Amino acid sequence: MVKKLAVLTSGGDAPGMNAAIRVVIRAGLFYGIDMYVIYEGFKGLLEGNIKQVNKEFTSDIMNRGGTIIRSARLEQFKDPAVVEKAVRILRDFEIDGLIGIGGDGTYRGLADMAKAGFPVVGLPGTIDNDVASTDETIGFATALNIICECVDKIKDTSGSHQRCSVIEVMGRHCGDLAIFSSLAEGAEACITFDHPSKEDELFRRLRKMKAQNKSHAIVIVSENLLNLEELAKKIEHLTGFTTRTEILGRLQRGGSPVAHDRILAARLGTEAIELFRREEYGRVVCIRHNSVVSVDIFEAIEMKRDIHKNLMKLVEMLQ
Ligand code: F6P
Repeated sequence: MVKKLAVLTSGGDAPGMNAAIRVVIRAGLFYGIDMYVIYEGFKGLLEGNIKQVNKEFTSDIMNRGGTIIRSARLEQFKDPAVVEKAVRILRDFEIDGLIGIGGDGTYRGLADMAKAGFPVVGLPGTIDNDVASTDETIGFATALNIICECVDKIKDTSGSHQRCSVIEVMGRHCGDLAIFSSLAEGAEACITFDHPSKEDELFRRLRKMKAQNKSHAIVIVSENLLNLEELAKKIEHLTGFTTRTEILGRLQRGGSPVAHDRILAARLGTEAIELFRREEYGRVVCIRHNSVVSVDIFEAIEMKRDIHKNLMKLVEMLQ
C-alpha cells in the first residue's frame, strides 16, 4: 500500500499542468496518502527540492497557466548514474512512487527510473500532443484555442491589406498544432514534418486566389522546419500577394487552461492515483476513444504517433 507519493512537472510547461497537480494531490490526500511536490522537474529532484503539501497548496491553481512547481529540461538525466541518484533521493525521503507530468522527454526520464526499479506513473502534459500513447495531452486544446484566437486576429489585418500571412506554430517535431489549427482556420496550406510543402501546388492556388481578388491567405507552418522569411519571399515573388510572417512562439503556452484541459486533467490525474492504489506501476495514463486507460511505459515510449493523414485530407479538401 503506497503511503507517500511525489509529483513533478518536466519539459515545456503547458496550460492545465496546475489543474493536474491539483487533482493528483487532492485525489492522493482523499485516500490518505501523504503528498509531496518536487520543484523544477528532474533537476529539482536531484537537488532534493522536495516538499510535503496539503490541500491548501492546491487552492486557486486550477485556472492558472504554467506550473506552480516549475519545470526544467535536464539532458544529464540520460546518464544511469544520475537516474540512480534520483532514485536514492526519493528513497531517502521514503517516497513510494513518482508521478511525472510532461511529454515525450519526461516519459523517457520516468522510464529510466522504472528501469532502475522505482515505481512511476506518467501523465501526458504538453501543448505539442506528441505523446503517441494518448489521443490527447493536457494543454493541447488550450494552445490550439490560443492559435485560433491569434490567427483570427491576423486575418483581420491580413484581409485589410490583401496579404498572405505565413504563420509558425509550435509542436517541436509534431505537426498536430499545425494540422488542427489549419482545419479550424481553413488555412490555404499546412506544412509539417510529416506533410511537407507542396510548393508548386501552393503557389498555383495562391495565384488563383489573387486573380479572384480573395482578401487574404493563411499558411500555417510547424516550427523547426523551414525558413519562414524565404517561403514568404517566394510567395510574394510568385503569386502577387504581399506577405508577412508571424511566429506565435511561447504565447501558445501561456494563459488559463480551457475547460476541456481541466476536465482532462481531472480524469487522467485521478487515474494516476488509482494506478498506485492498485499497485500498477511503470505505466502512463492515456485517453483513448474518450476512455481513460493506461499503457506500459516502455511500450508507450516506442509507440508511433498518428500523423493525422485523414485530417490533412480534410484540410486540403476544404481549401
Ligand atoms: O514542448 C513544448 C514546447 O513549447 C515545444 O513546442 C517547443 O519546441 C519547445 O517547448 C520550446 O521550449 P523552450 O521554451 O524551452 O525553448
